[in-house]
Amino acid sequence: MSTARSRLIVALDVPDRQSALALADRLAGHVGMLKIGLELFVAEGPGIVRELRERHPELELFLDLKLHDIPNTMAGAIRSASSLGARFVTVHAGSGIAHLRACVDQAGDSTGILAVTVLTSQDAQACREAGHTRSPAELVKIRAQAAAEAGCAGLVCSGQELESVVAVAPDLFKIVPGIRPAGADVGDQKRVMTPAKAIAAGATHLVVGRPIHTAPDPAAAADAIVEEIASVLPS
Ligand code: C5P
Repeated sequence: MSTARSRLIVALDVPDRQSALALADRLAGHVGMLKIGLELFVAEGPGIVRELRERHPELELFLDLKLHDIPNTMAGAIRSASSLGARFVTVHAGSGIAHLRACVDQAGDSTGILAVTVLTSQDAQACREAGHTRSPAELVKIRAQAAAEAGCAGLVCSGQELESVVAVAPDLFKIVPGIRPAGADVGDQKRVMTPAKAIAAGATHLVVGRPIHTAPDPAAAADAIVEEIASVLPS
């Protein structure tokens, strides 16, 4: 069960320190990793990362900062994130191979760079409007290859992209958001997948937010997802 638990990442999509700590306290021992996104990081700064680390050293921390800047600036941000003890940090794969390499070079041994291929909020029209002549699926493939070439630890992608991503970057972690247990409220997510289907399709980690933190008992909701993950992992 601990292997299955290590694959569950809970998104701490809350606005402040108090709510983040309360959620972390309820989930410790039930999940493997917590994801700190821009809302919480911008509100509370690196102090929240340090505090979570000290309070729950057994939980890994994922800084979802989605960096996109010149290589030198991205590399500096990665050094800072690495010194905070983040297990994963996200950067935009569309930045290009030189940017990704600069980040990988500064990440240190214990921080993995995750490349975000194409945001799931971007469809074909949004890509065209942004000046791309390739389809989102083609961009995902090109960017997954770039991430592998640059030495990134993994990719963030939708469940629907797993097949092509597994083919071009078989050795990278595949971190999949948009996860909904059967019957759960979809909310604003468009392309969702159940935990079992995503793991069976090649996801190495699942990112789950609302189905856990809006549940009456978040720890029980996390346990149910961990059991579902375990049911499809090879024994
Ligand atoms: O509440 P829900 O399970 O939909 O939360 C999913 C989390 O994954 C949120 O923190 C969201 O920002 C993040 N995410 C996503 N789609 C992406 C990348 C990240 O939903 N492509």
